[in-house]
Amino acid sequence: MAQCPQGERLQKVLARAGVGSRRACDELIAAGRVTVNGLRAQLGQRIDPDRDAVEVDGVPIGIRPGLVYYLLNKPIGVVTTASDPQGRTTVLDLVPSEPRVFPVGRLDADTEGLLILTNDGQLAHRLTHPSFGVEKEYLAKVEGRPSRGAIRRLREGIDLDDGRTAPAEASLVGPDLVRLVIHEGRNRQVRRMCEAIGHPVLRLVRHRIGPLRDRKLAPGAWRELTLEEVRALERAAKPRDGG
Ligand code: URA
Repeated sequence: MAQCPQGERLQKVLARAGVGSRRACDELIAAGRVTVNGLRAQLGQRIDPDRDAVEVDGVPIGIRPGLVYYLLNKPIGVVTTASDPQGRTTVLDLVPSEPRVFPVGRLDADTEGLLILTNDGQLAHRLTHPSFGVEKEYLAKVEGRPSRGAIRRLREGIDLDDGRTAPAEASLVGPDLVRLVIHEGRNRQVRRMCEAIGHPVLRLVRHRIGPLRDRKLAPGAWRELTLEEVRALERAAKPRDGG
């Protein structure tokens, strides 16, 4: 049996992967339906989710049958809705139509960058709900040259009409280039934050969702996430109480 005293409890890893409640996962383990690295799992076993291969009924967790995960580099002008009254291309036009997937969160039509599409409702919820605090990293080209004080304001929180933004990571990576890491995902949040400090956004690109980056994916291109990436996303989208 895999020995990993510092690892995570198997039933917790299974529950997080959406296999079922922790109790249901224990029952699966007790029934001998779960293997770790090909060996029958034991109740109370701890594993390393990065290294150990876990299967339920012979199917690796994270790629349960029927679930698909796409990473799209959304180009400017494409909308993140299922259909558009103005007839613009939607993100669903850019990925396979079967099985049906939906975008996880949204990017404005004029924002570019990484967007996940999936039919895994549970993971989608955890990636978008602020209580899970998954980071999204943006690079914004802005009007003018923000001062250090302006960047500090972004970091500390900005009063927007829907409330104060949570503390964010913000830095200047060029005279007019702001790197911003947020974990809230309110409507047009980055644009509104930059506008509030007097530097409206000219171009906005999302470069990272939690642990996911891809510098090679061309605008308009998509690929499937690897099993490791799906697992990493699941770990990043843990409830903040650690449960
Ligand atoms: N913030 C924005 O302003 N727009 C986006 O598309 C995403 C984050």
